[in-house]
Amino acid sequence: MIPNLVVEPDSAAADAPPPRPARATHRLWGGRFATGPAPELDALNRSIGIDLRLWPFDVRLSKAWAVALWHAGVLTLEESTAIEHGLDTVAERLGGGETPVASDEDVHTLIDRLLHEEIGDVASKLHTGRSRNDQVATATRLWAMEACTTLDTAVRALQRTMLDRAVELGATLMPSYTHLQRAQPVLASHWMLSHFWPLDRDRARIEGASRAAGVLPLGSGAVAGCAFPISRVLLQGSLGFAGLSRNSIDAVSDRDFVAELLFATTMLATHLSRLAEDLILFGSSEFGFVQFGDSFTTGSSMMPQKRNPDALEIARGSGARLLGDLVALLGTIKGLPTGYNKDLQDDKRALFDAVDTMLLVLPAVTGTLAELAFRPERMKGALASSMMATDLADYLVEKGVSFRDAHAAVGKLVREAEEKRCELNTLPFESFASAHVHFERDVFDALSAVRSVERREADGGTGPGAVRSQIDAARASLAEKWDSTRGNELRLVTP
Ligand code: ARG
Repeated sequence: MIPNLVVEPDSAAADAPPPRPARATHRLWGGRFATGPAPELDALNRSIGIDLRLWPFDVRLSKAWAVALWHAGVLTLEESTAIEHGLDTVAERLGGGETPVASDEDVHTLIDRLLHEEIGDVASKLHTGRSRNDQVATATRLWAMEACTTLDTAVRALQRTMLDRAVELGATLMPSYTHLQRAQPVLASHWMLSHFWPLDRDRARIEGASRAAGVLPLGSGAVAGCAFPISRVLLQGSLGFAGLSRNSIDAVSDRDFVAELLFATTMLATHLSRLAEDLILFGSSEFGFVQFGDSFTTGSSMMPQKRNPDALEIARGSGARLLGDLVALLGTIKGLPTGYNKDLQDDKRALFDAVDTMLLVLPAVTGTLAELAFRPERMKGALASSMMATDLADYLVEKGVSFRDAHAAVGKLVREAEEKRCELNTLPFESFASAHVHFERDVFDALSAVRSVERREADGGTGPGAVRSQIDAARASLAEKWDSTRGNELRLVTP
């Protein structure tokens, strides 16, 4: 991953007395200005600290553009190949750690400057018919498509761990909760997998965002389209886009794909936050369902006994960060007039932050989950016979009683147990008999947690058979991989 560089203002340039020469530095514009921009504007306007990481994609699309210009008869074969070779060298320099200079406004300017250094004036022909508006939209889309593939891999790694842990939990029982009150017994594997499926939906949303990004804007120029007969289909195939934008005005301002990826990652962050919350709670001494390991917890500088689940807490906190990124982007685009507006430059700040954060959080959550120890005896110990009250009502239903009457009868028993401060299964049979005539001696079987779980075999339930097929379905969903293959790069240069 390429780090974001914060470029210090060029103090010599900043101190220079006005008027500043119009073309003192390498700029992609400036002819119509008598003086250069004020340092205050430069500092605000410069995006190289954020967008430098787009360079591999900008180089790729620039090479494709050089081929397209040759194909359109704008460049000779020699010029086009010189540009391609030059861009390869620029990529080598950037890959080798070449850093921007203060006057590099953005990644496009930086690459243009380096290309000039490499091949001289012919570099100036590359910008024919294109604009940074269609360029940045294209580079950001390429970046986003790659990010989707990386995210998918990281999410699947977490899902795989969940699946392994679910299998390992076997027949372990635990309480399920509603309103954070003990509700009904479930297989612990069923609880584990309840966190698997939200991630499955996240992967579908990430795939959707990748498809949204896979529409090529290049060839839209600044806003009105390209005046040269370039083949956009050739560009599309060469850059691996699935489709072509149909309207140049829309193409340079469309950031829906950023919003979609931010929503997908925000939902993902939300799901990780909820998993983290469950685990943090279950790791407390009060619950004690899980015990955290050494590699993903930290100690306290004061309290020697502490073991804190920091990775999970940061995962939970990250949900707020990503929500902020999503809201910032939606706020940015909602009031924009048509066409490109500089506000859009900030789309990348939100996008990169969200993806970077998830790529840090996902492996840490995966590691925490892989390392923690489950404590089946504590899970089992948290089961109480009152959690089988529904099963007790079902017992009466099976004897022909209406569910409403059964519910009332069991309610009476629950109240009695509460008054006597005992468990339902320690009430004498006489209590059951007086609560409803249809209660017989076998009623105590209905108060077994194992039986309660075994009865729930309808698809998606916690019955052992249903969970086995759930596990099979989960495994199958991990095997599915969406097709993220890119098109074939068309090159005039033999590699
Ligand atoms: N750095 C700009 C961005 O990220 C590139 C596009 C600049 N376009 C322009 N018309 N000044 O949006």
